[in-house]
Amino acid sequence: MQNFTFINPTRIIFGKAVLAKLGPEAAKAGQKALLVYGRGSIKKNGVYDVLTGALEKEGITVTEHHGVKPNPVLSHVRSGIRKARENSCDLIVAAGGGSVIDEAKAIAAGVKYDGDVWDFFCGKAAIREALPIFTALTLPATGSEMNSGCVVTNEATAQKFSAQGPALFPRVSALDPETTMTLPRTQIANGAVDAIAHIIEGYFTTKDADAAVTDEIVHALARSVIDSTGRILKDRADYNARASMMWSATLALNGLATCGYGGMTFINHAIEHSLSALYDIAHGAGLALVIPAWFKHHLQTSGPARLEKFGAEVFGTSTAEEAIKAFEDFFRKTGAPVRLSEAAIPAEDIPRIAENAMGLIRLWGMKHEQPEIEKILGLAK
Ligand code: NZQ
Ligand code: ZN
Repeated sequence: MQNFTFINPTRIIFGKAVLAKLGPEAAKAGQKALLVYGRGSIKKNGVYDVLTGALEKEGITVTEHHGVKPNPVLSHVRSGIRKARENSCDLIVAAGGGSVIDEAKAIAAGVKYDGDVWDFFCGKAAIREALPIFTALTLPATGSEMNSGCVVTNEATAQKFSAQGPALFPRVSALDPETTMTLPRTQIANGAVDAIAHIIEGYFTTKDADAAVTDEIVHALARSVIDSTGRILKDRADYNARASMMWSATLALNGLATCGYGGMTFINHAIEHSLSALYDIAHGAGLALVIPAWFKHHLQTSGPARLEKFGAEVFGTSTAEEAIKAFEDFFRKTGAPVRLSEAAIPAEDIPRIAENAMGLIRLWGMKHEQPEIEKILGLAK
């Protein structure tokens, strides 16, 4: 078990009808909120009314910044920064999925920075401060509601990069599983795959495979995501399954599932970000294409030990090959694509995808070269 520091300052308020509690929490931080949201789901499921009502009850003025797209883009972040400055916003409230929360985080940091916000994403500047962030999560997937990272696409350069810093931990996140009842099937699938991806990246790339407590957390979270997703797909109104899924996805990327691993990498994410940057594919769908292929590569280069252990604990399989198939079967069961062709991505594009992925691989300091990435993508044909 490697040395580690674990810190997570985000206050989570979880359960039915908790969103209104964000009002008094936000009032502790300021009086002028920038309300960041997407393209309308929060107006359909009642989240918008509850949230604006709760903020107004506390005397908080609300400036709206909506239209955040899945895979949020830099130009929209920049316009949010301008709006927050023009209206002297002193806090940010994000309502939606990971894209909304990520854009809110980028705005929160950008408002406090004299240079261009993209500097944070390409390693030119570190995030030192940010406006206080409050979130109402409506899509369990990314963990952004309880972590200090955000991902934005620079649409001019086709780079999907991340930025992070302790100032980006949301101050308070309200998680009401009932808000997830309106998710379409594709987003249920994307969320499940993304949560699984966060659970497995550290487990399979760790340099220290003797961190038993973290292994057990990983196994339990994976079982919970798989079981909850199965229940949700059978019965969309299953509140306890929705609740279990929501909390599992949060725990999957709040730092807990990698403590003690040391030296791990986020290779599947690095490759996926390239797919999202080039084809605007949903993050979860992109991961479903990459992960089974990467497992086949992992088996060839690192051997069967981790796949056998994970497979036995999570799927009840006996061999590494069976474990890879079980992952693929789970992704297929959710409806996610598991081959490039199923997402209409031509195999001839593999060198271009790998070249784009190398940008992030270098930025994240990972030791992979383009031929290896091309080989992995070749296994996804
Ligand atoms: O735009 P609206 O109308 O809100 O609709 C959204 C969007 O179309 C919809 N949606 C959200 N909640 C809903 C709902 N529809 C009905 N009912 C609800 N309750 O779902 C669509 C997708 O939303 P999005 O926020 O894009 O999905 P997700 O949460 O999967 O976020 C993906 C983004 O997060 C990044 C990804 O790369 C991607 O850009 N990630 C962020 C991470 C982080 N900050 O830690 C880590 C992840 O690995 C990931 O990279
Ligand atoms: Zn992810």
